[in-house]
Amino acid sequence: MSNRRDFLKKSSLLGLAGIASNLISNNQLNAIESLGNQGLTDAAFTLPKLPYAFDALEPYIDKQTMEIHYTKHHQGYVDKLNAIKSTNIDYMSDDATKCTHVDKFTMAAIRNNLGGHFNHSLFWTLLKPNTKGEANKPVGKLGEAINSKFKSFDEFKTAFNDASLKLFGSGWCWLILQKGELKIVTTQNQDNPLMRLPEEGEDVFFAKKQPVLALDVWEHAYYLKHQNKRKDYIDAWWNIVNWTKCEELFLEKK
Ligand SMILES: [Fe+2]
Repeated sequence: MSNRRDFLKKSSLLGLAGIASNLISNNQLNAIESLGNQGLTDAAFTLPKLPYAFDALEPYIDKQTMEIHYTKHHQGYVDKLNAIKSTNIDYMSDDATKCTHVDKFTMAAIRNNLGGHFNHSLFWTLLKPNTKGEANKPVGKLGEAINSKFKSFDEFKTAFNDASLKLFGSGWCWLILQKGELKIVTTQNQDNPLMRLPEEGEDVFFAKKQPVLALDVWEHAYYLKHQNKRKDYIDAWWNIVNWTKCEELFLEKK
């Protein structure tokens, strides 16, 4: 598919569409025309498949919120990224490593939409249905590391809740691994710990920070069900954290 697309794009770029018209179908010509109308922008970014149904996280996150969050908000970041015609970021692949190229000089549209795309792609995988209302706690080595760092899971939850509630406006709360140490950090807007943004009071570059757990604390993540009560949303969210996935991230980056 990408070869065909590349061919069409290159043909169009080289002004060969007319010459090629005897060799290719009307559909392909339409595709060339369509690419021209889009300023030859390549759709480098795609919306990842949601690993569960919109209503699968009920009653903790409602179906309507999930559907709008995924099909409008996340799709919006993807569409805006694909519509940007020039950037200082290499567009050849769609993966989280792109975020490590973002710094304070990166254009705002890239920083915001790339962050939005990456953060949500990760966030979906860090949620899982919990239809039986079972107790939900970290597992394995990550569970041990959390207990070791924060004394207990409950103390970790309290610290994470506090950080999420103190975050002014829109942003994300994270559990990250930095130089082998677990830390709770927050980022504004769609920034994330992978970006090369100086920490507060630090004008030098970052130390590598790897997300292990992420919480979207934008109002669009909870307003329909919880209105302004962010705490209720966070309390519900703890029930559907996918600790198995968190453990994978932890072990992968340790
Ligand atoms: Fe969001």
